[in-house]
Amino acid sequence: MTIGTTLVIGGTGKTGLPLAHLLRDANLPFLVATRHPANAAPFKGVAFDWFDASTFENPFNADPNIDRVYLISPAAHDALPIVKPFVELAISKGVKRFVFLSSTPTPKGSPYLGKIHEYLAERGVDYAILRPTWFIENFGATFVPGILSDNIIATTAKDGRIPFISAKDIADVAFKALTDEKSHNTEHIIVGPELYTYDEAAALLSDVVGRKITHKRLSDEEGKAFWQSFGLPEEYAQGMLAMEVLVAEGGEEAHFRSPVKDVGKRHLVDYFKENRDLWIPK
Ligand SMILES: NC(=O)c1ccc[n+]([C@@H]2O[C@H](COP(=O)([O-])OP(=O)(O)OC[C@H]3O[C@@H](n4cnc5c(N)ncnc54)[C@H](OP(=O)(O)O)[C@@H]3O)[C@@H](O)[C@H]2O)c1
Repeated sequence: MTIGTTLVIGGTGKTGLPLAHLLRDANLPFLVATRHPANAAPFKGVAFDWFDASTFENPFNADPNIDRVYLISPAAHDALPIVKPFVELAISKGVKRFVFLSSTPTPKGSPYLGKIHEYLAERGVDYAILRPTWFIENFGATFVPGILSDNIIATTAKDGRIPFISAKDIADVAFKALTDEKSHNTEHIIVGPELYTYDEAAALLSDVVGRKITHKRLSDEEGKAFWQSFGLPEEYAQGMLAMEVLVAEGGEEAHFRSPVKDVGKRHLVDYFKENRDLWIPK
């Protein structure tokens, strides 16, 4: 099989960047779609913004050989009406395969990511749907401000257990789904190798950084405000809250215990050790 160019949407982000490295290491052509092409360096970037449809043609003008796309949704609750015109354009430009990053709490047909899953699965294209659990890298992103200012990790997940997954392990599955000769045409539930409550994760991080970090239990109202503090629209923040409430109800642990899943090989504690400086106040 001849492999054309892969368009990596979100190629500057948690899963897209390690995917770009895997494509580079395999000597396969790819292009990073980003709102800020300069941020794609050392890789080739092209200006692309989900909220500006006039940018949708840019990747295909930059490289007419794009035949597969790694797709990350815009941060909008009703994302399908935004994504669908792009996918239809991509198909008209010769794209044959889409690998879409969904999540464990959003099964096929469910609001937000599940609608895109359903559309791709029924569109008659080659596809794979990645449904990872919560990322290890959130500890190095959304939780950093609370850890640095107040030594807390704030969630509504209560005692729910999560098999935190490394974005690099997700990228490994994405790479195979994009480059295997036979398209997967299925979903992949992707979990990490161990279950942790946020209390346990906070204790693990405390050991690594040498000071006490605790898990602060938020009310639903506080949880929604937490997500809105990142500038997320209200309906989207409500959706994030709903997904975290599912953790408290054992939803992520159930995925870990299900027989059909991909299990990542990278461990939470190693991420903490390798990135220790992130949680040390300057
Ligand atoms: N974090 C988790 O625990 C988790 C778990 C399961 C599933 N997911 C799913 O993974 C996806 C990514 O989540 P994340 O928050 O962790 O993000 P991320 O991958 O760290 O970063 C978001 C990426 O999307 C790009 N992006 C943001 N807004 C964009 C826009 N308007 N147009 C084009 N590109 C845009 C950013 O690129 P530029 O800034 O360079 O434009 C960046 O590369 C989401 O759909 C989320 O639901 C996340």
